[in-house]
Amino acid sequence: MERLDKLLCSQGTLTRSEAGRLVRGGRVTVDGVVCRDPSRKLDGEKQAVTVDGRSLGYARHVYLMLNKPSGILCVSRDPKAKTVIDLLPTEYRRRGLFPAGRLDKDTHGLVLITDDGDFAHELLSPRHHVPKRYRARLDRPLSAAAAQAFCDGPTLEDGTKCLPAEVTVIEEGDTPLVEVIIYEGKFHQIKCMFAAVGCLVIWLKRYAMGGLDLDENLREGQCRPLTAAEKTSILPKK
Ligand code: URA
Repeated sequence: MERLDKLLCSQGTLTRSEAGRLVRGGRVTVDGVVCRDPSRKLDGEKQAVTVDGRSLGYARHVYLMLNKPSGILCVSRDPKAKTVIDLLPTEYRRRGLFPAGRLDKDTHGLVLITDDGDFAHELLSPRHHVPKRYRARLDRPLSAAAAQAFCDGPTLEDGTKCLPAEVTVIEEGDTPLVEVIIYEGKFHQIKCMFAAVGCLVIWLKRYAMGGLDLDENLREGQCRPLTAAEKTSILPKK
């Protein structure tokens, strides 16, 4: 159960005082009856709320997929630099959203943004080994020995032993394009893994997390809500 004014502003664009004014002004109904009490307690999932005759379309949590461009920080807030949250449409700005899992500033692609801490915790928990698929452009050809060492799980410069991973060459050449699947998510994971086998990553994009693929219709900087099926596809079935 939640206060009516709090529930209204949890959905996006309103501040608590704006929500209170709307309610006191008689513009909000609960289960078909005008409610002028901002402190009225209700269950947004079970009770129907309208504002100016339109359904509130209450959703307890928000789940967005963003196609992150390079040059944007993957954090909730930063005093100086632009963040993934700054790219969202204004209706999402006040929800306490955060990126579930980080990409480096220069990495492109799929970022999941939510306000559901439990879901993010499950997604990122090292227990689950949720696979993440990327494409990387390397600064030199990947030898068979380097590919094998990558797949076996290389030992990083700091002594960390990585989990086994997968790598497939998509485009050969002096700066090959490779597809990579990793099952963990440490800081600079892919760059460090390639560095450990003698290659530099010069471009990196994430295409999938668990069963969720980046929507190829999303332009860089655009986001959209996940469908219910997409949300359930991310985590492995229990
Ligand atoms: N691995 C990296 O090195 N960077 C990322 O942004 C994601 C995975």
